[in-house]
Amino acid sequence: MKGIILAGGSGSRLSPLTKVICKQLLPIYDKPLIYYPLSVLMLSGIRDILMITTPKDLDAFKELFKDGRHLGLNISYAIQEKPKGIPEAFIIGEKFIDGKPVCLILGDNIFYGEGIPAYLKEISSLQNGACLFGYYVKDPERYGVAELDKQGKVRSIEEKPKQPKSNYAITGLYYYDKQVVEFAKSLQPSKRGELEITDLNAIYLQKEQLRLEILGRGVAWLDTGTHESLHDASKFVEVIESRQGLKIACIEEIAYLMKYINQEQFVSLIEDYPQSQYRAYLQSILTRECV
Ligand code: TTP
Repeated sequence: MKGIILAGGSGSRLSPLTKVICKQLLPIYDKPLIYYPLSVLMLSGIRDILMITTPKDLDAFKELFKDGRHLGLNISYAIQEKPKGIPEAFIIGEKFIDGKPVCLILGDNIFYGEGIPAYLKEISSLQNGACLFGYYVKDPERYGVAELDKQGKVRSIEEKPKQPKSNYAITGLYYYDKQVVEFAKSLQPSKRGELEITDLNAIYLQKEQLRLEILGRGVAWLDTGTHESLHDASKFVEVIESRQGLKIACIEEIAYLMKYINQEQFVSLIEDYPQSQYRAYLQSILTRECV
């Protein structure tokens, strides 16, 4: 399966933080925000990845990840000129997708907890239809919201409804089969001038090809769109990492543990880092017991 990380947008709510640095490169405790969605793809076994960014931020992303080979990945880049909506990722990425199923993750979404990679692995073997992930939140009106029937099947999805029909928000992790490019191209911009992901999902729903997996209470799905949520996400990562002494979304560690790179390549990654806590952590992986 191919993976796309959509890391454009304007990040206007985080101004002035996002005046010269885009949201996805802001720190979440000890690493850039984009490491977190990238780690979800990596843990799911997805190694062929397209990063979509703004023209202004492209060079920074390239500097950070290059072609991904050092992580055992194949990373390519594309530009979204203006934030014209999430489904545009599939139009921009048409060549990259190349008629294969694709997983899209928003570059500012943090998922933590066991199970997501396993879900994605299972779903990727299905090949047909779309799969979304729902998460129980206290403020569903801020998101796309799924209405479910008694069997847990999706009845409707509404974008930022004033009166939500459930507490299940649709997260920024999506899986689509090869029809997605054609469906994305058929969309018309909404009143706010964007292609809407909810409209894309409505096509799959109408064709009865939409599946929703509920992420349970043991999973954390964190928002990073506002100053408070960005700070909370940093705090969350700090608390877990300090308690365990293990890092969340350490992409070099994941590349090594998933065997995308061998020990020699891992050691050379460590040597590229200046003396720092991060480097010391990577170093410790070579001698610690298996976790
Ligand atoms: P949003 O949070 O909806 O938008 P934003 O990041 O521009 O922030 P703000 O509302 O404060 O202006 O976007 C969610 C994610 O999707 C984020 O990672 C940016 C990305 N995105 C794009 O890359 N292109 C787009 O056209 C849209 C709508 C979002």
